[in-house]
Amino acid sequence: MPDFLQIADIPAEELAAILEDAHKSKQSRLGKPKGFVDPEAPFSDCVVALIFDKPSTRTRLSFDVGVHQLGGKSIVVSTESTHRARGESVKDTALVLSRYVDLIMIRTFEDDILNELAQYSDSPVINGLTDSNHPCQILGDIMTFEEHRGTIKNKKVVWVGDGNNVCNSFLQAAGKFGFSLTFCGPQEFDPDASEIANAQEQGAEVILERDPKNCIPEADLIVTDTWVSIHEDNNPNTKLNSDLKVYQVNSTMMKMAKSDALFMHCLPAHREKEVTSEVLDGPQSVVFDEAENRLHIQKSIMKWCMGLL
Ligand code: CP
Ligand code: NVA
Repeated sequence: MPDFLQIADIPAEELAAILEDAHKSKQSRLGKPKGFVDPEAPFSDCVVALIFDKPSTRTRLSFDVGVHQLGGKSIVVSTESTHRARGESVKDTALVLSRYVDLIMIRTFEDDILNELAQYSDSPVINGLTDSNHPCQILGDIMTFEEHRGTIKNKKVVWVGDGNNVCNSFLQAAGKFGFSLTFCGPQEFDPDASEIANAQEQGAEVILERDPKNCIPEADLIVTDTWVSIHEDNNPNTKLNSDLKVYQVNSTMMKMAKSDALFMHCLPAHREKEVTSEVLDGPQSVVFDEAENRLHIQKSIMKWCMGLL
């Protein structure tokens, strides 16, 4: 059964099937309590491990609730409480965990950890964020765009600020879904050159732009994220003292945008840093729909991994 490690690995038609299922499943639950178990309870025989090497609010809660809504059992594991924190290898952990659970979600640091876990686990593995990717977030964001504006194909997405892990996954999605991705930020924080090249190989238009005035007016979707990602928490000053300040998404920037351009941020946000409260709480912001849709899309991703789509 397939792993869900990065968007680039998954054929476009399979990504479309995951999205279609998530839209349908969300609709079918309208008005139901959060703890209502979906009638088919497709995970009634399923145990899922949710492993966290890094902090999380949305990913932790949405996967846990998602497994419950699918009728399954989840086990949330903070790595510091396990023997991995005392040096047990990722390989041995994978070999042990897949004797107990049917599916593993991990949020971790380097992609090598994710890939080694997937290599040695007999159970499928889902990437809940690494230093270089956040694929569940981006599928949830595309679901959110589709709810508000229809297909994202041929639309213009402008990523503002730091070319980070979330931005990398947007680049991979640009290739799969056929939208244009402009990175607008300082050159020193450009996204990975390999991610740009891969997106272009997939036929996506990728533009690197330094001046918001040259791209914001055309944008259908404006996205930003924190300037300092979790794996950079120990050394934030280079970024906080950098030119990133010019790229704050504020009302001056949004006044340049089309009135129907959407604003997204995966959260958590640092209000008045990369985005002002005026924008985050404003009429173009769909950030809490994004957060909700993590739940719906991840249920469909988990079903896909278990061969149930
Ligand atoms: N957006 C996101 O992944 O949030 P958490 O870090 O809270 O999981
Ligand atoms: N870029 C962020 C996303 C958090 C959800 C990080 O890795 O910190």
